[in-house]
Amino acid sequence: MKRLRLGVNIDHVATIRNARGESYPDPVRAAEMALMAGADGITAHLREDRRHISDADIDALAVILRRRGRPLNLEMAVTAEMETIALAHRPHAACLVPERREEVTTEGGLDVVKGHNAIAPVVGRLSAAGVRVSLFIDPDLTQVAAAKTAGAAVVELHTGAYCEAVRHRSPEAQTRLEALKTAAAEAARLGLEVHAGHGIDYETVKPVAAIPELMELNIGHFLIGEAIFIGLPAAIQRMRALMDEARAEQAA
Ligand code: PXP
Repeated sequence: MKRLRLGVNIDHVATIRNARGESYPDPVRAAEMALMAGADGITAHLREDRRHISDADIDALAVILRRRGRPLNLEMAVTAEMETIALAHRPHAACLVPERREEVTTEGGLDVVKGHNAIAPVVGRLSAAGVRVSLFIDPDLTQVAAAKTAGAAVVELHTGAYCEAVRHRSPEAQTRLEALKTAAAEAARLGLEVHAGHGIDYETVKPVAAIPELMELNIGHFLIGEAIFIGLPAAIQRMRALMDEARAEQAA
């Protein structure tokens, strides 16, 4: 089984900085520390309302990641403004996500079935510019098929519903996990690279990491919270170790 990559999302370092309108803590410093601690790449979501990551953060992240030869995964809404920014930076990857200003976080996956006419041309233009495009979707077979039709190279499966069910000790957790497994298998069968993310913590990471088709997890909020108590490098190393354990158990 291939090694599972870890992308660390540093958005919430910027959330803390912006809470005081200060210049610290610096998400770029967090990105450098995350890479040293074992992250394979950095993920950042430039939201339309700029509530956490700023344009200047993306400029700086693009520079340091290019210098280090590490991937930047830019999460972005499907808008003309974001497309222009992505085309200016040409990050390694762009993950297209739904965005509503009133939401607390990305609450559901992109509806690629309904949004095909808006999404497919953006996928085409970013891909032509050398950006690896992923679509953030719910673990739903119709959405997986639509992502393939839209021309994406990658799908990122939304793990939020599964992780929330586990945290609330809901009986739905197992069904949610099965949906992730089924969607991952179908996406891989269609030739899509499969990633997953949202809401993952130390408890939920192992069942997710054990899904054999997954190539990358993107994890942020929990790691930044845990960093308050044990530091960012230790939090990342623990998450990395749990991912490796899950893969080793799966292979045994
Ligand atoms: N993947 C995508 C597409 C996301 O939108 C987010 C949240 O920004 C994440 C992964 C990371 O989620 P979390 O911060 O809950 O770990």
